[in-house]
Amino acid sequence: MKILVVGSGGREHALAWKLAQSERLQLVYVAPGNGGTAQDGRLVNLPITDPAALAQFAIDEHIALTVVGPEVPLAAGIVNLFRARGLKIFGPTKEAAQLESSKDFAKTFMQRHGIPTARSQTFSDSTEAHAFIEAQGAPIVIKADGLAAGKGVVVAMDIAEAHAAIDMMLSDNKLGDAGARVVIEEFLSGEEASFIVMVDGKHILALATSQDHKRLQDNDAGPNTGGMGAYSPAPIVTPELHARVMREIIVPTVQGMAKDGIPFTGFLYAGLMIDDHGGVKTLEFNCRMGDPETQPIMARLKTDLVGVMEHAVNGTLDAVELEWDRRTALGVVMAAAGYPDAPRKGDLISGIPAETPDCVTFHAGTALENGQLTVTGGRVLCVVGLGDSVKMAQRQAYLAIEQIHFDGAQFRRDIGWRALKRHG
Ligand SMILES: Nc1ncnc2c1ncn2[C@@H]1O[C@H](COP(=O)(O)OP(=O)(O)OP(=O)(O)O)[C@@H](O)[C@H]1O
Ligand SMILES: [Mg+2]
Repeated sequence: MKILVVGSGGREHALAWKLAQSERLQLVYVAPGNGGTAQDGRLVNLPITDPAALAQFAIDEHIALTVVGPEVPLAAGIVNLFRARGLKIFGPTKEAAQLESSKDFAKTFMQRHGIPTARSQTFSDSTEAHAFIEAQGAPIVIKADGLAAGKGVVVAMDIAEAHAAIDMMLSDNKLGDAGARVVIEEFLSGEEASFIVMVDGKHILALATSQDHKRLQDNDAGPNTGGMGAYSPAPIVTPELHARVMREIIVPTVQGMAKDGIPFTGFLYAGLMIDDHGGVKTLEFNCRMGDPETQPIMARLKTDLVGVMEHAVNGTLDAVELEWDRRTALGVVMAAAGYPDAPRKGDLISGIPAETPDCVTFHAGTALENGQLTVTGGRVLCVVGLGDSVKMAQRQAYLAIEQIHFDGAQFRRDIGWRALKRHG
C-alpha cells in the first residue's frame, strides 16, 4: 500500500514517520517534503505542490489514501478535488475548512450552536471598528478574518495598539484579502491548551492532549511565532476537563457542522482558553493538526496510524481505540537566525543524533543537497525527547540539541515550564 502526505513541515515529517512504521506499507510519498523526509529510506519526496497534479499522481500511482498537513491546500479545496476524482483523502472540504479559514464563519457558527467562545463582532468598515474599540476599551483582541500564517491576530493591551491593528488590516490592507474583514473580540485570560481530534463526518476520535509555546524567547518573551515547542500530554487537561471539552465544544461542533450540511472530516483542532475555575472557551478552530504539537503526539502514538487513517476515510472511526506511550514527549523547535521576521537561509546543519527510543528529530525548514543538510526556512528542526516525567523528556531533548549545530540557531531553554510548575 502507498500513502501520500501533503506538506513540507515538521508536522508532515512526523505524520509520514509514523505512517511509515506500519508493516502494511510499501511507501510514503511526501509532497514536497523536506531534508528529513529525503533522508528517511521509507519516505520519498515528491516535488509536486499543485493539487490537480497531485491528484493525477495519486491516480497513476494507485495511492491508497492521502493525508493533508497544512491549512492552505485544505482551504483551497484539495479534498473536494481528490474526492471528485474518486480518491480517498483525509481532511476537510473547502466548505468545512472555513472553521479555520474564516474567523467570522467560526464565530457565527459557535454563536449559532451555543459553543462557548469570546464575545465578538465582525467589521469591514474601519470607522465602525474604531468606534467599537472606543466603546469597548482594552485589552481587546483584533483578528483578521482570513488565513494570515499566524500574523493575523493582535492581542492589544491598550487602545492605541487596537486602533493601529485596525488601520493595519482595514485601511492599509497589510494582510490583503485576509484582513479585509476583522473580528474584534473580548480578551480572555487563562492558560491555553490544544485539543485535537480526528473526525470522519460523524464519529470523533480524540488524540492525546498537548500544549505549545508561541513566543520566541524564554519566559514567553519576544514576538509570536508558529510555535517554539510543545509537549504531550498537557497536565492541565484533567479527565474532567477532557470530558467537559468533548461535551461543550467538540461534540456540538461536529454535530453542528453535520446539521448545517457541511459535515466535518479531518483533524479538528480547538485552541482552548482555560480559566482558573476550570471553565473553558474556544479561542479558535484549526482544520488540521498543530505544528509543533503533532511531533510529540506522533512520538507517543503506539497504534498503527495507517489503520486509523483507513477508518477515518471510511467513516468508521468509532471502531478505533488509540494506544499511547505513557511517557511524556517534549519537542523543542530549533529556528533559523532572524526567525520569525526574516529567517536566514543556507546555514549548514550538522550533528543531528540518530533516532533512539528516547529521542527523535523531525525536520521542517531543511533541504538535503549533495548529502549536506541546509537551512531553508524559519523553523528548522523539532527535537522530541521522551521520558517518564516532563523533566526527563526535557532532558532528552536538550541533550540532543547540544549535539546539533547550525549558525544562528535559536531555541528556547524552558519548553515545558507550565507542566513542570503544575507538578511542583
Ligand atoms: N480572545 C482572546 N483573548 C486572549 N488571547 C487571545 C484571544 N484570542 C486569541 N488570543 C491569543 O492569540 C493567539 C492566536 O490567536 P488565534 O489562535 O485565534 O490565531 P491564529 O492565527 O489562528 O493562530 P494559529 O496560528 O495557532 O492557528 C492565541 O493562541 C492566544 O494566545
Ligand atoms: Mg488558527
